[in-house]
Amino acid sequence: MRKNIVAGNWKMNTTVPEGVALAKEVNQCLEGFKANCEVIICVPFTHLVPVCAVIDQQKLGLGAENCADHKSGAYTGEVSAPMVESTGATYVILGHSERRQYYGETAETLREKVALALASNLQPIFCIGEVLEEREKGTHFDVVRKQIIDGLFNLSAEDFGKVILAYEPVWAIGTGKTATADQAEEMHAFIRQCVADRYGKEVAENTSILYGGSCKPSNAAELFAKPDVDGGLIGGASLKAADFIGIVKAF
Ligand code: 13P
Repeated sequence: MRKNIVAGNWKMNTTVPEGVALAKEVNQCLEGFKANCEVIICVPFTHLVPVCAVIDQQKLGLGAENCADHKSGAYTGEVSAPMVESTGATYVILGHSERRQYYGETAETLREKVALALASNLQPIFCIGEVLEEREKGTHFDVVRKQIIDGLFNLSAEDFGKVILAYEPVWAIGTGKTATADQAEEMHAFIRQCVADRYGKEVAENTSILYGGSCKPSNAAELFAKPDVDGGLIGGASLKAADFIGIVKAF
């Protein structure tokens, strides 16, 4: 059966000492109880090595927030999937709306990134989601289906089985405006059906689909209670250990 997962996305926040302190705090909180879900933190590249050294990855998984669309070579400033793997991280967020929007990531580059991540034993947390205008026009289902098809459906069923999906309506990210639990469930069920149409029911039932967008301790339980919402990808609220753990405890 699929896993429930709460993953933090720190984005471009915290210095290395601040990040190490936060990771230590989260790790310490998790030592005190048995979480009913997998817990992951995705941190800036600079933080991966020092954070890896202070967490117990049996309890707290570690991921990057991106990786390059090439394996190695003359790509100044980029960080490859093998480099991320060599830090000890085992997850990578790919296709976040901020990367699509501000850094021009296309389905084509994302397919490369997914393939390279999988080749380096990194589990992709692949983000999809519509902007406000698309939801208002009523095209949100088509938009999300296209993002999944174009970004992922070239994969074999075996490789697709390693991917975690994250539905993040762009209008809910960092805005304080959460999708209602019903809106999230409606889209998550749709996404699972898209996966079933391509890979069959068993693969679809085993795919974890996380919700992201202004998820906080106060709304997490209602969202996670929905049958097709398998956890959350948490931005702002992952920067405070108490809030993040509050969301973990919503399971
Ligand atoms: P917020 O939780 O800050 O809205 O961010 C969500 C997100 O983008 C996680 O990837």
